[in-house]
Amino acid sequence: MSNQEQPHSGSDQFIDRQRRQWDQDAGGWHKWTDTLDSWFGGVTQTMFKMIDIGPGDHVLDVGTGAGEPALSAARIVGSDGHVLATDLSANMLEYVRQRAAAQGLSNVDTLETDSYLDGVDAGSVDVVTGRFVLMYVPESTRALTAWRQALKPGGRAVAAIFTGPANNPWASVPVSIIRQHADLPPPPPGQSGVLALSSDRDLWDRFELAGFQDVCEEITQAPLRMASAEEYVQYAREAFGGFNQLMAHLPQSQQESIWVNIAGAMQRFETESGIEIPCEVRVMAGTAP
Ligand SMILES: C[S@@+](CC[C@H](N)C(=O)[O-])C[C@H]1O[C@@H](n2cnc3c(N)ncnc32)[C@H](O)[C@@H]1O
Repeated sequence: MSNQEQPHSGSDQFIDRQRRQWDQDAGGWHKWTDTLDSWFGGVTQTMFKMIDIGPGDHVLDVGTGAGEPALSAARIVGSDGHVLATDLSANMLEYVRQRAAAQGLSNVDTLETDSYLDGVDAGSVDVVTGRFVLMYVPESTRALTAWRQALKPGGRAVAAIFTGPANNPWASVPVSIIRQHADLPPPPPGQSGVLALSSDRDLWDRFELAGFQDVCEEITQAPLRMASAEEYVQYAREAFGGFNQLMAHLPQSQQESIWVNIAGAMQRFETESGIEIPCEVRVMAGTAP
């Protein structure tokens, strides 16, 4: 990557499009929370171990989606601690409030803000978490700088993103089928998206440019296990709005035939008990000076 992050000219419009898409996806994301929790529960545990989260901590979760890792953190920090769950999408945050109430968690608040954290006080938290958000952020060094500024001195930030396409066929296979059938060119280098920031040094360099110290990383496997390729397609259709957005300009009949192709391609991951699609995650942490 270039060590200089240029201000992203279409950043505001990009974030507005993201907000609309995630608002639209919130219902699907919420419907599949059990799948999401079993898919990424291990990633959350790796994140927590790397930042040594504990009772009494004040936590800021960025891009919380349907509420993770915010709600898991709330159970650890307890009544002496606090979690501020933030997201671009007001619809996502509505589900977080419902889930927190249903789980009896009174130490969780929500704030609608983007990853640059307008409205968050400097030096106010012990821990910042961001599970699967930074790759969608047009200026990720700017975001990480805001995360560092939100931390107290010595506070820790941790982010999870996916590694490259070869180790993440749960995303790369459908995306390449959609691009091929929709006759779309490959995305320009550096464009935000589900598998962005995935080369080895990208995220590490950004943590350092943002002023973090003691940067460290772990690579972890999080295979997606489902009953069948058809169930995977149902999940993807309802919760992965980016896939739908890529083919939104095509007639409905062509979209249906693309989904049939995707189901066929996913059958290569069949096991005796369903399907298991590889997914590899990079978890990175750093300390605010
Ligand atoms: C892939 S979901 C991850 C949600 C959750 N953290 C999880 O791991 O299940 C990405 C979330 O990031 C949010 N998001 C996308 N771009 C963002 C931005 N620029 N600033 C803040 N949140 C953003 C979306 O609204 C969405 O809820």
